[in-house]
Amino acid sequence: MNEFVFTYPTKVYFGKNSLEKALQTESNRHGKTVMFAYGGASLKKNGIYDRVKESLAKEGKEVVDFPGIMPNPTYAKVQEGAALAKERGVDFILAVGGGSVIDCCKIIAAQAKTDKDIWEMEFSEKVFPTEYLPMGAVVTASGTGAEQNCGAVITNEEKGIKTGVFGAYASFAVLDPELTASVPAMQVISGAFDTLSHAMETYLGNSDQDNVSDDVALAVMRNTVVNMRRLIKDVNDMQARSNLMWDSAMAENGILKVGRVTDFQAHQIEHQLGAFTDCNHGQGLAVIHPAYYRHILKDAEEKFERFAKAVFGKDTAEEGIQALSDFIKECGLPTKMGELKSKVEITPEVLRRVADTCNIIKCNPRELDRDEVYEILMECM
Ligand code: NZQ
Ligand code: ZN
Repeated sequence: MNEFVFTYPTKVYFGKNSLEKALQTESNRHGKTVMFAYGGASLKKNGIYDRVKESLAKEGKEVVDFPGIMPNPTYAKVQEGAALAKERGVDFILAVGGGSVIDCCKIIAAQAKTDKDIWEMEFSEKVFPTEYLPMGAVVTASGTGAEQNCGAVITNEEKGIKTGVFGAYASFAVLDPELTASVPAMQVISGAFDTLSHAMETYLGNSDQDNVSDDVALAVMRNTVVNMRRLIKDVNDMQARSNLMWDSAMAENGILKVGRVTDFQAHQIEHQLGAFTDCNHGQGLAVIHPAYYRHILKDAEEKFERFAKAVFGKDTAEEGIQALSDFIKECGLPTKMGELKSKVEITPEVLRRVADTCNIIKCNPRELDRDEVYEILMECM
């Protein structure tokens, strides 16, 4: 194991009715004015909007609604939320949604506490925020694990970049699988593939081979695959959704990352694909992963072999990657760029821009050059 300092500041309320339990206990730790942030129409259709409003009213809170946080949240939306929080004297942010809503709120929480521009601070001055509005996160679509960490993935449309920005940790998170009951089947599977990707990308970073974090990561991968298969048979299997919700949290709460270096190159490529298209994050990863892994197979053969045995019961690295590819098909996830249903046509020119602008990770099994990224992307056409 490498040296590490581990701290985990998010209190988790897991299971049935934890929404009301958490809001009753946690919302009184902060002031009177709560910003209730959410996405589009889903919250009002599935009744979660009314449940949140009722719980906050019971606690005597003044509620400022902040709707309309879009999938792949933009930096402009962050600024809109921060301006509203400042104008209305918000004491606490409650993010209710999937990764997009939660990520947007992490940066609103930081931007609301400073007049400096967070993007400029982090990327030009390399100064990271230290003060935040407190926030809580209620997960209505699981997979990203966004409620577990302080990194937010934000699209800066002006700059044409989708990347990680550091913001607030949620002081508490509500994980009730029943809140995800209305998420469409394909989106649940896409979210679960994102979880699988987080565990794989963590495991495949360059590190020593004798690391308890790797064994835990392999167990999380295996459990994610088993429960995705259960969900394909029965999308309403709450036990499977429950396991997947905790797999999602485990993959991003830092436990798999301690004592090791992580990879996340596939994520960097997919994020930049997301900056130029509107493709779904988990689905973009499903397309990219097999091609990327075939490309780096020889750089991490032993690790791929362990992965093959532990996750898919196969003998060799090649068979493991083939099993992953077959599993993606079995789940009905896209396997080619053309299946991503992007509104923007994904052409070789778009892929060249992705390759030329995505972050390159320095310490994955091997640092890729930009032509290799392009080659990997073209294999997905
Ligand atoms: O906007 P509404 O109407 O609420 O619909 C949303 C949205 O269209 C819908 N939804 C959410 N809860 C629902 C529901 N529909 C029915 N019933 C419910 N209970 O789901 C749609 C997509 O939501 P979104 O939040 O975009 O999905 P996801 O959770 O997959 O988040 C994706 C974002 O998270 C980032 C991704 O890059 C992407 O921007 N990620 C964040 C990470 C992090 N912070 O740690 C890590 C990930 O690797 C990822 O990059
Ligand atoms: Zn992800």
